[in-house]
Formats: sequence, C-alpha cells, structure tokens
Amino acid sequence: MAGSDDFPLSSSTGGFEGARELLAHEVVVIGGGLAGLRAALAAANAGAEVAVFTKVHPIRSHSVAAQGGINAALREDDSVESHAFDTVKGSDYLADQDAVMLLASEAPDRVREMEHWGTVFSRAEDGRIAQRPFGGAGYPRTAYAQDRTGHNLLHTLFETALGQGIRVYEEYFITRIVVSGDRCLGVVALNIREGQLHSIQARSVVIATGGYGRIFDRSTNAVINTGDGASLAYRAGAPIEDMEFVQFHPTTLYGTNILMSEGIRGEGGLLWNGEGERFMERYAPKAMELAPRDIVARSIQTEIDEGRGIDGKPFVHLDITHLGAEHVKERLPGIREICINFAGIDPIEKPIPIQPGQHYSMGGLACDSDGATEVTGLLTAGEAACVSVHGANRLGGNSLLETLVFGRRAGVAAASQAPTAPEPDEALMDVALREEVARMNGILMRPVEERHADLKERLQKVMFEHFGVFRNGPVMKEGLEMVQKIKAALEITGIDYHGSVFNQALVGYLEMESMVELAEVIAMGAIAREESRGSHSRIDFPDRDDERWLKHTFAYVGEDGPIIEYREVTLGHFEVKERVY
Ligand code: FUM
Repeated sequence: MAGSDDFPLSSSTGGFEGARELLAHEVVVIGGGLAGLRAALAAANAGAEVAVFTKVHPIRSHSVAAQGGINAALREDDSVESHAFDTVKGSDYLADQDAVMLLASEAPDRVREMEHWGTVFSRAEDGRIAQRPFGGAGYPRTAYAQDRTGHNLLHTLFETALGQGIRVYEEYFITRIVVSGDRCLGVVALNIREGQLHSIQARSVVIATGGYGRIFDRSTNAVINTGDGASLAYRAGAPIEDMEFVQFHPTTLYGTNILMSEGIRGEGGLLWNGEGERFMERYAPKAMELAPRDIVARSIQTEIDEGRGIDGKPFVHLDITHLGAEHVKERLPGIREICINFAGIDPIEKPIPIQPGQHYSMGGLACDSDGATEVTGLLTAGEAACVSVHGANRLGGNSLLETLVFGRRAGVAAASQAPTAPEPDEALMDVALREEVARMNGILMRPVEERHADLKERLQKVMFEHFGVFRNGPVMKEGLEMVQKIKAALEITGIDYHGSVFNQALVGYLEMESMVELAEVIAMGAIAREESRGSHSRIDFPDRDDERWLKHTFAYVGEDGPIIEYREVTLGHFEVKERVY
C-alpha cells in the first residue's frame, strides 16, 4: 500500500501504533456537546448511519456548564423579528442578517422540541415555560431551567441519542482531518484509552468541538476548550472567520473566574463599585445591568482600571441580597452553591466579587447556514463554527440556541450529502494514518526543551494581557511576537511522558498546537482591524468604522502563517445604526 514503507504502523522504538482495523461511518460527528449531539440526531433521523467521536464523555462537554438560558420568541407579545433585531444590534451589525433570521425563526420549535424530549424548563405561574430578561434583549425571552440550563439540555440530548442507538466513541482525540483535493475523506483519531491511532473513513464529517476559551487566562471555559476542531479544519484548508471577536463575560467569580450567569442580573442583580455607586448609570443609563455583555464588561473593567474596584481591588460587587432567600434558592441554586464552595460567600447574605473573564468565541470555522465549510464533506456547528449570527458580540442566551438550530441543520445536510459522496479511498486513509503515527512518535522522540504546560501558561497570560477587554496597537504587536515565539518553541519541544496509554501529555501537546495556531489568527485579525466594534475595543481606534470595517475577517492557512482576507457582511433586514442602550 502506498507509503507503507516510509511510514510504518508502529515505531521500532515503541510509542504509538496504528490500528489495523479501518473504522468507517457514513456521518462522523466530532464533539459530544449540544451541537454535536443535535447534529448526530438530525443525521440519524434523516436516515444516515452516524457515529460521534469525543475527547471526553459527552456529558462532560462544556455545554453542561451553560447556566442562564436559551432565547426564543415563545409568547404572543414577542416576535421573531424582535429577537432577530436584538441579535443584529447586539452583534454591532457584523452578523449576517439572513442567518440571524433563521436562528430566530427556528428558535421556538427547537426549544419546544427539547421540552418534548424531556428538558425540565422552569415554569411561569401560568404553567408555560418561564423566561427571564437577558442583556441587550428588548423582551424577556430567555427560557431557563433554574441556572442549569445547559446541564438539562445536554442530559436530554444525550439520553435521546442513546435511545436512538447512536454510536459514541469516547476519549478519542482527532489528530487530523484527511482531505484529498478539496474533499474530506475522514479523520485520524487517537484512542486515548488504548493508545492507538485509528483512521476513520466518513462520507461527511461535522466539526462540533466547541470554543477555544482556554487560549486566555481568566476564562469561564472548561479546560477542554482548546479549539481543536477549528484548528484542525483550518490546517486542512477551511478558512476561519472573525477570530478577533472574543467575548469577555462581565461577571465571573473573582479568583476562579467561574461563570456568574447573566441570569443573576436577569433576576434583578445589581452592580456596585467600591464607592457605593450603581455605576452602570454612567455607561448604559436605560439598560443598566442588562446592557449587552461587551458594554457591561467594558464598564466593569473601566471601574477597576480607574481604581473604583472594591477596596481598590480588581473586582466589583454583583448583589442579589435584596432578592430574598427563597427567590435565590429557587432560581439561582447553582450560583449559590458555587459561591459557597469556591468563594466562601453565601450570596443570599453578601454580594459576589466579580470581574470580566473570557467566555465565548464569536469567531470560528466559516460556514453557511447548513454548516458547509469550503472543504466538501466537512461541516461544522456550534461554537466551533461562525455562521455568522453573533458578529462582533453575542447576546446571552443565543449560544445554546445556536447549537440546536445549526446543529440540526448541519446534521440534516451531512446526511443528505453522504449518499452522493465518492467511494471511500482506503489507500489515502492508510497513508494519513501512517503519517500520523510517525508524527506522534516524532513528538515522543524529541527532547523536552520547554514543557508545553509552561508554554500554555505563557500563552494564556499573553493573550489576556495583550488581547483582552481593551486593546491597543503597540501592545497587540508585542503580544503577536510573543505568540509566535511560543509557537516556535512548541514546534521543537517534546513531551516528558512516553507511554501510549492515557498519554495526557501528548493530548495536552496537541491541544496546545491548536491553541497557539488560533491565537496567532486572533492576534493578526485584531491588529489589522483598526476600529472598535462589539467585543473588539481599541483605545487607539475607539470608534466603529463602517466604511472601512463593516466586513468579515477570513483567515486561510499559509506557509508562513495566516493569510487574511475580507468578505462582505450580509445585510438587508435591519438598517445599520449607531448602537445605544
Ligand atoms: O451568563 C450566562 O448564563 C451565559 C449565557 C450565555 O453565554 O449564553
């Protein structure tokens, strides 16, 4: 078979081996969170044979951590139009408006479907699904299950997927997306538990691996959020879009940066600075605490930077002591538990110390509203993707929604493409497998110049300090140089554990490859974009500049780093205006 002499299935010095058994599925979904499971269910319901590959058990996916809720126009006095308008305005007009209309119009069906499948939503007095106000929304349209909405949704979808017999491969880490010409043939994956590499043939592959929040220090994200899928697809030729737009959630617990849900403010939580001022009056006099996230995060950061944190420290207070014990216990029990366990504070009695932290990735793999990327047979959904419905700033409650709406659409599209895909090319898959075996063993054989865990810590600090809530050209340029040095250091270092079974050092190294790759794209996109829009706030270019910058950033992999291009934003439903709250 081609290449077999050059790339043996096992190394003579030990290390990793390639499995001889070739796995093959019609539709392969990478990622077991909400977007992945919703895509898998849709593909299976459309008649495809489907398998899910995930690096963790599905209910450990980061979707489980989503707290505050999911948006949908469910009531007679709300409307799809109003949901779409809020989303477009919240995006600072960078979202593609046709995609936003789809998001808002499919929302009610997706939420009710989850309820019918078993999600236990909180209830209003009249028995209907309860909805709370969220930032930047003109109507209280965020449906919720206390403050554990993601947890409830994920369990429902996982049980539904199991009930339909969908095969789930747990603890498989994808090391490569195999492409020939412009067609995806499948993937190569490391079975972490057994220490073997597998080639997995597929007619369609859906990337639903979530975000890349862990590139940043101070993140609400799980440690698994390292952007693997987006980075692998980028290396395989699919462009990534709008990566410079990184969301900083205004309220994360001081010290650990665990999410303190926007639902807290939706329930009536107030923000106070060290001088006893309800400071949002200065920044968003109408919306106050319920302004969109980018605005509230900047307001809090300004209070902290100007010395008005609590006792001059880098946090302000989020206060729910006025809500009463019963209300907090009923609506925000998870928040209370986190505050007691991680900060030693009972929020029924004392205010919560909070500061902004990285939370969400607006950018991701460029795709159409059916998840298609520029690589045929390679689709994407969820936070890994950029449809783009969030533009420069996502509204709270639209992320869970996105996973269900666009997860389903990608699954249907993956299933419909599968029958017309060309016959599997086993020889090419075999070459890819052998190359990956050689690559893994190469990493094992290199001396450890610098521990990748130390490089990761450096990267996270550089990204938070140089590409944080407020940005500035010279500081970002310095940051980019640091990122590129970290990238070069990673390329030559090895790892200090050489076993093949559960080699978490190798997994950490591969994750770090993705993180640094994406960090470089974020940095380049941010430096190039000479304006302030949504989450991208430059002190050297403080205004939005629609004439020059009402456009999407696309990054393609190049030999010497990312190649940046720009594309038009799809407008047409809502006029582009100044954004005032
Ligand atoms: O604040 C939150 O509960 C997060 C919601 C979201 O990111 O959509």
